[in-house]
Amino acid sequence: MSMIKIPKHIETLRPYIAGKMIEEFARERNLSRIVKLASNENPLGPSPKAIEAVRQSLDKSFRYVDPGAYDLVRAIGERIGRPTEQIVCGAGTDALLSYIVKAFTGDGDEVITADGTFIGIYVSVRKHNRTLVTVPLKDYSFDLDAIAARIGDRTRIVYLANPNNPTGTMFTSRQFESFMAKVPSNVLVVLDEAYFSYAESHPQYPDGLKYDFDNLIVTRTFSKDYGLAGFRVGYACGPEYLIREIYKVRLAFEPSYPAQVAATAALGDEAFLRTTVDLNGRMLEKMRTRFEQLGIVQIPSVANFILMLFPSASLAEQFNAGCLDRGLIVRHVAGFGIPNGIRMNSGTEDETEFALEVIEKVHAGMMASASVARSAQS
Ligand SMILES: Cc1ncc(COP(=O)(O)O)c(C=O)c1O
Repeated sequence: MSMIKIPKHIETLRPYIAGKMIEEFARERNLSRIVKLASNENPLGPSPKAIEAVRQSLDKSFRYVDPGAYDLVRAIGERIGRPTEQIVCGAGTDALLSYIVKAFTGDGDEVITADGTFIGIYVSVRKHNRTLVTVPLKDYSFDLDAIAARIGDRTRIVYLANPNNPTGTMFTSRQFESFMAKVPSNVLVVLDEAYFSYAESHPQYPDGLKYDFDNLIVTRTFSKDYGLAGFRVGYACGPEYLIREIYKVRLAFEPSYPAQVAATAALGDEAFLRTTVDLNGRMLEKMRTRFEQLGIVQIPSVANFILMLFPSASLAEQFNAGCLDRGLIVRHVAGFGIPNGIRMNSGTEDETEFALEVIEKVHAGMMASASVARSAQS
């Protein structure tokens, strides 16, 4: 029997493994309460204005969407102060990253990023059979000098996430500007600002959309601050000559109609955005304080999550398993390049409190078994 030959780079591709689904987890175990703080989603749910707009629009869903996502692109343009020709929407940043790799790289080309960033870029590069070059993080942040030094003849794209996922760290305007001055004009810089709203109030945070480089594309998503992860909407903004090429490789009818309606309405929901950012600020502070009291090592974050670090990958795994046993889903970020890291995003007040109580118990259990092990050795 003849078999279909799978190309090597697809056969060996490790697909994106998402955070555990609550329903899947509930089926597996019999727990009275499950809290998921593993995918940096908005704990408040979707913007209420988005839900209402989608409800009102469902009867129009039998029609194909406008391939240019006219209303949404115009609403985004107004919001960010950019002409519509510089904006393209897609089914989330994840889809846009894939299109960017597809549109701007060829055989043998390299994409450079950090070893310890958003896993979606690794998958996109490998899926297109391009060479992924990763540069170690420095103090859990993008090492922009080392990345600039690594750019070579085959480099086509540099991918940066600011703030970074899973570390929550950011680089400053000054660092970014000095980096851009070193990047050759034929290398495209992709600046992923999935967590923009949480970081923008930081005085040194560089708003990527304030820059006008011919080799810069900024991506943003509606998945986090607007609570629309399940709808799949994001956009890329950059010079028209690049955006035009992304349109060529993008699927014609994305985002879906309800997704476009939801995102357009969400853009008008300032109050929801303010409440989201305010809640995150308070919950992150609560998490920071408690981790510090417990002696858990943590990386200072400007996003909507905190990365905890454990002395080894197996202790991180043990912590993760202990949390799961008690109904808390957090994210072991080994696949992101940090095997001893556990990432937890902020929840509602109630969810955050539940999570911190679970963490306190799991941590106490681990400390107790470590001291038993130490005394057994001595
Ligand atoms: C840095 C970063 N970029 C992109 C995404 C994915 O965004 P989207 O839901 O728009 O695909 C995430 C989600 O975790 C992220 O952390």
